[in-house]
Amino acid sequence: MVKKEPKKILEMLTLEEKIALCSGHDFWHTEGVEKAGLAPVMMCDGPHGLRKQEGQGDHLGINDSISTVCYPSASALAASFDTEVLKALGEALGEECQAEQVGMLLGPGLNMKRSPLCGRNFEYFSEDPYLAGKLAAEYVRSLQGKGISACVKHFAANNQETQRMSGSSNMDERTLREIYLPAFEMAVKEGKTRSVMCAYNAINGVFCSENKKLLTDILREEWGFEGFVVTDWGAAKDAAKGVKAGLNLVMPGGYGAHEEALKKALESGELTEKELDAVILDILQFICDAAENQRLEASIDRKECAKLSGELAAQCAVLLKNDGALPLKKEARAAFIGAFAEKPRYQGSGSSHINVAEVTSVLDALHGQEGVSVSYAKGFEPRETKPDATLMEEAVELAKKADVAVIFAGLPDSFESEGFDRKHLDLPENQNALIEAVCRVQEQVVVVLHGGATMCLPWADKAKAILCMYLGGQEVGRAAAELLYGEKNPCGKLAETWPLKLEDNPSYLNFPGVDGSVNYREDVYIGYRYYDKKKMEVRFPFGHGLSYTTFAYRDLKLEKASMTDQETLRVSCKVKNTGSRAGKEAVQLYVRDVESTVGRPVRELKGFAKVDLEPGEEKAVSFTLDKRSFAYYETQISDWFVESGEFVIEIGASSRDIRLSQSVQVEGTVELPCFYSMQSPIGSLRKTARGRKVLEQIMAAGEDRKAEQESQMEALGEGAEQMQQAMFLEMPLGALAGFGSLSMEQVEEIVRMLNEN
Ligand code: BGC
Repeated sequence: MVKKEPKKILEMLTLEEKIALCSGHDFWHTEGVEKAGLAPVMMCDGPHGLRKQEGQGDHLGINDSISTVCYPSASALAASFDTEVLKALGEALGEECQAEQVGMLLGPGLNMKRSPLCGRNFEYFSEDPYLAGKLAAEYVRSLQGKGISACVKHFAANNQETQRMSGSSNMDERTLREIYLPAFEMAVKEGKTRSVMCAYNAINGVFCSENKKLLTDILREEWGFEGFVVTDWGAAKDAAKGVKAGLNLVMPGGYGAHEEALKKALESGELTEKELDAVILDILQFICDAAENQRLEASIDRKECAKLSGELAAQCAVLLKNDGALPLKKEARAAFIGAFAEKPRYQGSGSSHINVAEVTSVLDALHGQEGVSVSYAKGFEPRETKPDATLMEEAVELAKKADVAVIFAGLPDSFESEGFDRKHLDLPENQNALIEAVCRVQEQVVVVLHGGATMCLPWADKAKAILCMYLGGQEVGRAAAELLYGEKNPCGKLAETWPLKLEDNPSYLNFPGVDGSVNYREDVYIGYRYYDKKKMEVRFPFGHGLSYTTFAYRDLKLEKASMTDQETLRVSCKVKNTGSRAGKEAVQLYVRDVESTVGRPVRELKGFAKVDLEPGEEKAVSFTLDKRSFAYYETQISDWFVESGEFVIEIGASSRDIRLSQSVQVEGTVELPCFYSMQSPIGSLRKTARGRKVLEQIMAAGEDRKAEQESQMEALGEGAEQMQQAMFLEMPLGALAGFGSLSMEQVEEIVRMLNEN
């Protein structure tokens, strides 16, 4: 095929044709350019399966789409802590898009899990931006490696469904930069995503679809994004403002309203043709690339895809608790209880809803398996919340006669979905009652959870084991069977904290906001950043997940003991499988700033690696840290900033199970602007190099007078010196004249010198 050149095509277009290109041809396609031989490109929802609608389009998962394979959803995928899982998924979906002639997949969703109540948390990766960003970058790379564009969404701060199309997420700059943007930044810089979907909501009052700071200043100028921005379906507001902000494509198309508005803006001079050309070029580039990357001969084997879905589901499951009840022994009489054993909940509702031909339940997977002794009782009606006495009774009787009861519970469809938020974190009353009742008659109770987000588990201490399958895709039942019977070893870790109760969550007092305005008052303290800072007990911490084997950590090595923020730091450690089964461990690296003049979380995830180990095997794991691993976002300089001092590198099996740690001294090479006055505390001299020098001299002069003060100190008793120093550092610079040996003129001179450029 002859290479198409967007610039040349642009020259061929009439104004009308240009305007037409700024919105879709219909619900799922861009416009084509007939005179250049370019067909419209299809965009489809995913992101954990292909939702290709051939009939009437909708973005709520209502009308049917082609029958295909459903993979684990994002909250499950993130629990794999494994870029290989995302790679396999991205490649499989890329192949499928090729086979179905789809040019762009609308995903993955990278929004942060600010509140566990967000109805779409099942579609998002994590409460941690680093984890979400790394996984997303791999997904994007792998999908795009197959010639299909990714479209990371919803840019940005789209963290709730309440008033999702009109609300404003309000936060300070540091919070936006440290928590809500980095996952997108990684998808752009590392994943090289071809497209970004701007969110419905506003940030600090400016809608994302017309937010120049977001779509141009940050996305293009700071991060170097070279693709195109598409609106979320129906997120366009003012047409001219959108174009000026850097918005390329408005979806869905086919209504004419956007075209009309653009025409008017051009006629009135509000918008120039040059401005229009700039956004069209990016769309043309996409349409040309899609034509070039299309492989018309591509085909896929959906049986193989289904197999892959099951394999991934097993990598994503998290063993939350195990007091020895798992794995099950084949010969044990197992009572499988709960409607989800028969009909698992395996995907969420809304635009990501996949039309699935076949779902494997745990009962299907075990059916006919030799030597396995499983009986079944429904236990609860999945569409009801009130307990059903007959179903409960049946289940309790079955549990009594068994060696072990395995209860399949979780969130029903009506509890979590795109379009609305959850009201609470509880399971339906009938499920909690069932679990409590079974625990009263059976000591060995295992609970298998299905659901896309965190849940409250009031009976957690009574169950002997808890296995979370999340929304594991269509083969979730097969994966559950393999994990329960130990054919596979659980290896997922939580990508979100499971709190003891909803009220503990940092956003609790400010969710979902008032009249569409939600203030992110918890600032950078979301998820474990908050729970750790407050030293709060949680049900299961971020990064937690058990295995049927055990792992030992040793030999943490830091390449150097001190460095500047311009250098990188290689970190390595060894992890050994000390049990008798093969298993995988997600090793986590956290960075802790020991002392800081600004508030910082106790620890932040800055590296992770999944290691596959045979019994007795040991492997070295290594990480590379750079400036960003130590920095916070400093608004005074609108940049990332490292404050000089000691940082601790922590290697953990979870955020609350740190196995190894070691310090490194990092020197920041950037000086913050600092204005001194006679009222500035003496301690603030430590903020600048010049100030530190002055402080050193003052302290040295103080040393000379130490002998004179010795008797005074003795009289004051133990700790007097530290006390005196602390008081001294809190005094204003002006006081040096009063208490020290300096004259007022000398102090004024010091202040003048400190402020000199
Ligand atoms: C959702 C997007 C989705 C789009 C198209 C919107 O309502 O927010 O995630 O990609 O519809 O279905």
